[in-house]
Amino acid sequence: MDEAIRVVGGGPLEGEVRVLGAKNAVLKQMVTVLMVEGRHTLTNVPGILDVSIMQEVLEHVGATCVREGNTLRVDVPSELNPEAPLDLVRRMRASTIVLGSLLARCGEARVAFPGGDDLGARPIDLHMKALEAMGAEFSLDHGVLTGSAPGGLRGAEIDLEFPSVGATENALLAAVLARGTSRIHNAAREPEIRDICCQLREMGADIDGDGTATITVNGVEDLQPVAHRVVPDRLEAGTYAVAAAISGGNVVVQDCVPEHLRMELVKLEAVGCEIETGGDWMRIVGPDRPRAVDVATLPYPGFHTDMQPQMVALLSIADGTSVVTENLYDARFRYVGELARMGADIGVEWQHAVVRGVEGLSGCPVIAPDIRAGAALVLAGLRADGETTVTGVSHIDRGYEDFVGRLSSLGADISRS
Ligand code: EPU
Repeated sequence: MDEAIRVVGGGPLEGEVRVLGAKNAVLKQMVTVLMVEGRHTLTNVPGILDVSIMQEVLEHVGATCVREGNTLRVDVPSELNPEAPLDLVRRMRASTIVLGSLLARCGEARVAFPGGDDLGARPIDLHMKALEAMGAEFSLDHGVLTGSAPGGLRGAEIDLEFPSVGATENALLAAVLARGTSRIHNAAREPEIRDICCQLREMGADIDGDGTATITVNGVEDLQPVAHRVVPDRLEAGTYAVAAAISGGNVVVQDCVPEHLRMELVKLEAVGCEIETGGDWMRIVGPDRPRAVDVATLPYPGFHTDMQPQMVALLSIADGTSVVTENLYDARFRYVGELARMGADIGVEWQHAVVRGVEGLSGCPVIAPDIRAGAALVLAGLRADGETTVTGVSHIDRGYEDFVGRLSSLGADISRS
C-alpha cells in the first residue's frame, strides 16, 4: 500500500536546509555517460526515486551502477543493448533521453513510445525532427520507436519550434559525436542544460553558446569518462523557499544557486517575502499573510512551470485574487481539486487559474497526482488548520530526497507512515 505523509499545520518554519543536485540534470547526465566506455562518476546525486529508475534503464542497456551516498559510479561497457523498454519509460518518461545518446554511440535505438501523463499529452515530435535533421530515421511499430542512423549522424541546422528541454538535450547528445557542426536554434536555456554541456565539455565535447538561444556543437571523434558534480536543484530550493513563505517562517536554503531562481524570487518578493541571497545560499522570511500576485509560467528564465503548484498553494491563502497562467502543459491544474478540498477557492478556465485567497485552509486527506503538486499539497498542509494526510507519496519521492526529514528539521509537525 502507498505510504502517506501526515502534516499538522502550525508555526513558522525556521532553520537551515541543504539541497542536492538537480533531478532534471542528473537524469540526463546518467545517460550522457553511455556515449563512452569506461568508469564515470557523478557527485551531488540526490537520493530520489527517478535516479533509481534511471539506474534500471542504464543496467538494462548494459552499464553497471554503484551508488554510495550521493556519489554514483557508472561503468559503461564496450557493447550496449540500445533499448529502453515500456515498463521503464512508463515509470519515467525522461527515459526517452536515451534516443540521442544511443543513436550517437550505437547507430540505433529502440525506445517504447511514451504516452501522455498527468501533466498533458507531452509529444516527442520535436525530438524526432531534430534527430531526423541529423540523418536519423524512425519507425513506430507496436508501440516501439526504432531509430537508426544508416549513414551515421551528421551535423545540421536544427530549428526547434519551441525551446523544448528534452528535444534540446536529445539534439545536443546526438550532435556531440556527429560528423561536422550542428547549430540548435531556439534552444532551451535552462541551467540544467548548461550543466549537461559542462559535463560534456569535461568529457571532451566541443560546445559553445549553451545558456543562449543558439547552441553550436562541433562533432568530435572521442570522449573520455570524467567525474562531474551535479548543479544544485533550483526546484528543490524553490520548494523550500515557498515552505518558508507559506508558514511565515525564516529559512536559509544552503548549497543552491539563487541566480537560477530569479523570476521565482521576484514573485516571492511581490507576495511580501523578505529575501537575502549570497552565491550559494538564500534566506526567505515569509509574511504573516501573502499578497496576491499574478504569475505566468514560461521557459527559463521565465517562471518555472514546476514551481507553479507550490506558488498556487501559497496564493490560495493570499489577501486578494491572483491569476496564474500555465503556458507549458495542457493539464497542469488537475491538483486544484485537492486544494479545494482543503478550502481553497480556485477557478480554472483552460490555462488560467483564478485563485481567490481565503483566510485559512483546513487539513484533510488529499492525493498527490504528480511530483510538484504532491509537494504543493504538503506545503498547503503546513498552513492548514489540523491534520492533512497526503497519499501518492511515491510521486514526491521521485523528486525530493527525504522531504519529510528536511521539513521536520525546520520545525514542521510532519511524519510518514
Ligand atoms: N513538447 C512538444 N513536443 C516535443 C517536446 C515538447 O510539444 O517534442 C511540449 C510538451 O508537450 C510540453 C512543452 O513542450 O507542453 C515543454 O516540454 P519540454 O520538452 O520542455 O519538457 P520535458 O523535457 O519533457 C523537462 C522536465 C520537466 C519540466 C519541463 C519544462 C525533465 C526530466 N523534465 O521536461 O520536469 O516541467 O522540462 O521545464 O527534465 C518535473 O521535474 O517535475 C518535470 C515535469
